[in-house]
This record gives sequence, C-alpha cells and structure tokens, in this order.
Amino acid sequence: MSVTQPVYAAFRAIGAYVPQKILSNADLEKMVDTSDEWITKRTGIKERHIAADNEFTSDMGAKAAALAIKRSGLEKEEIDLVVCATVTPDYFNMPSTACIISDKLGIKNVQAFDISAACSGFVYGLSVAKAFVESGMRKNVLVIGAEKFSSIVDYTDRSTCILFGDGAGAAVISATKNKEEGFVDIHASADGAYADFLVTPAPGSRNPVSQKVLDEGLQYVQMKGNETFKLAVKTLTKDVKEILEKNNIRSEEIPHFIPHQANYRIIKAVGDALKMREDQVALTVHKYGNTSAASIPMAINDLWESGKLKKGELMLLDTFGGGLTWASALLPFSGESV
Ligand code: UT7
Repeated sequence: MSVTQPVYAAFRAIGAYVPQKILSNADLEKMVDTSDEWITKRTGIKERHIAADNEFTSDMGAKAAALAIKRSGLEKEEIDLVVCATVTPDYFNMPSTACIISDKLGIKNVQAFDISAACSGFVYGLSVAKAFVESGMRKNVLVIGAEKFSSIVDYTDRSTCILFGDGAGAAVISATKNKEEGFVDIHASADGAYADFLVTPAPGSRNPVSQKVLDEGLQYVQMKGNETFKLAVKTLTKDVKEILEKNNIRSEEIPHFIPHQANYRIIKAVGDALKMREDQVALTVHKYGNTSAASIPMAINDLWESGKLKKGELMLLDTFGGGLTWASALLPFSGESV
C-alpha cells in the first residue's frame, strides 16, 4: 500500500512594479483644498505613483509577475494557475486581467481568473493558491495584486484622492514536501453588511453606463473614511490576535509584520495594540500611498529587495478592504535571500 506524502504551499518568490510618475502632496495642493501638513499628519503619505495613460493594470501586473517568475527559478511554462487580485481590472466585465497577464507573459493553456476582494485581494489570492497546491490540483501558482486605482479616483475629491496610488506585486507559490517551508495558517473573511463603506457605484448591473452615471460621478470610488478607519483598526488587531493565539506564537516572535498600507495612523494603532516594535513593522505607505490589492506584495518586495527578508523568516500579513473583506496569513518566506 502506498502512502501519499502531504504537499504544502511555499511562498517561493516575490516581484513588484512601481510606475514612474510621482504624485506628491505638493502636486495635490495645486489640485484640491488640502496641504502637505494635513495629508502627512492624517495619513503619513508623502507621495504615490501613478500609471501612465497608456499603462494598464495588466501591464503592471505582468511586469511584477515576470520578475517573480524569474526570481523563482521556474520556467514560465511551469506556472499552472494565474490569479489576479484587482478592483481596477483592464475591463470591468470581461476578459479578466489574469487572462491578459497570462497572454502578456506568454503562458499558454493555463487556468486564469481574477479575484475581487479590494485591498484584501492578494491575501485572498494566497488562500486560493494554498488550497489549489495542497489539494494537489496545481503545482506552481502565480498570485498577482495589481491596481490602477487612479482610474477610479475623483481628483476633485480631497477625501479620497490623497490616499490612493498605482502599482503591482506578484508571488510564486509552489508545492513542497517540506512542511517547514509551507504556509502556517491563513484566514480570510468578509461582511457584506458594510458594503457601502467603500464602493464604486458604477459601472455594474445596478448602474450601467449612462449620462446620469457620468453627471453624478458614480464611476469614482466613494468611502466613509472615518467609519472605515475605526473598523479597520479593530478588525486588523482582532484578526492578528486570533491567528497568533491559534498557532501559539507571540507577537514579539514575528520578524516581519506586513499590514495593508492604507494609513500610517491605522498601522501605528494596530502595531501598538499588538505590542509590535517599529523594526517588526513593514512601512511603505509614505511612498506608495494605498495601492489596494498591490499594497502587501509591494511591501514584501521592498523588504526582500532591501535584504531584510531572509529565507525561512516568518511573515505575518494583515489586510482589510472594501466588501468589507479582511484576511491574515502566517507563513515563512521560502525563496532565496537577496
Ligand atoms: O484600503 C481600504 C481601507 N481604507 C482605509 O482604511 C481608509 C480609512 N480612512 C482614513 O484613512 C481616514 O479616515 C482619512 C485619511 C480618509 C480621513 O482622515 P480623518 O482623520 O478620518 O478625517 P475626517 O474624514 O474625519 O475629516 C476631518 C476633517 C474634515 O473637516 P471638518 O468637517 O472637520 O471641517 C474634512 O473635511 O478634515 C477634512 N478633510 C481634509 N482636509 C484637508 C478631509 N480630507 C481632507 C484633505 N485635506 N485631503
């Protein structure tokens, strides 16, 4: 009788792409009634990157993914699932951005689909990759978080336009027999009762494109900032406490706490509530703003490229976004160090 050995999902490689153009707080001062002082104090953001007019979510996602595949040491033909988390897809209905990215990478005959979970999308994507790999259905999954958020931001609305930026990050998740390399745990959840906290009312089946949609600016993101802020702090803290307790790990043992980069005050409040030291907490919000599904993989990439994220070190991911959705993950980085 042969006994099948269990298979685990390992985080093998990371890549990211940051568009060239910078939108600084000084630039925003010329566009809306705001100030560098207000934005810095209330959000910690100094600048964000904005994609070029002819640069789309799939372009950024494909660049991040190409880098992740190269760093994984795999051939692109070995990728057998492509998942793209985005709420700013190239096309709102079809085809999916994952299909376009697969084509741009030259990956043929591969299962490809998008995930819509706003800022939690990348960690949702990791949970999908884990399930596919550990069930034995797939061996090498590409998980991308990519956003051209500037395409749904109203640059006359000071309450949202100061927050968001564009970019992409991607990871390769591969099967391993070595349990030490595998994900420790992952939680993903949602509560649609808060759907109106973060919403783009159009286009969609409720509000197909019409003159009314354009006149009322329903194609732009709307956010109940203050309510979202409070719920974000509460949920992000609770989620981490639960995953750490469940796995019998203390917060001081985590070398890399990588929270969603929405607002420095949220990150600080959550870090303090969890008794994290500053050196444990990844921070990119000052230079990228909130890049939604791309925020966590872009932050992981920054850590890796700076040499701070080493093979075998534990990462604790924690995210929160429109839906409302939230997710946390505890996993080692199982790729090569820089
Ligand atoms: O990624 C998904 C999750 N998203 C988030 O987690 C975002 C959560 N929310 C936030 O980050 C914050 O709520 C904001 C940064 C959006 C807003 O900060 P706040 O401290 O919650 O400000 P507020 O909305 O309570 O507004 C305070 C004041 C208001 O003026 P009054 O009514 O007190 O006179 C606003 O009109 O600040 C005003 N204000 C601004 N002033 C200058 C709002 N936006 C601006 C601005 N510049 N850009």
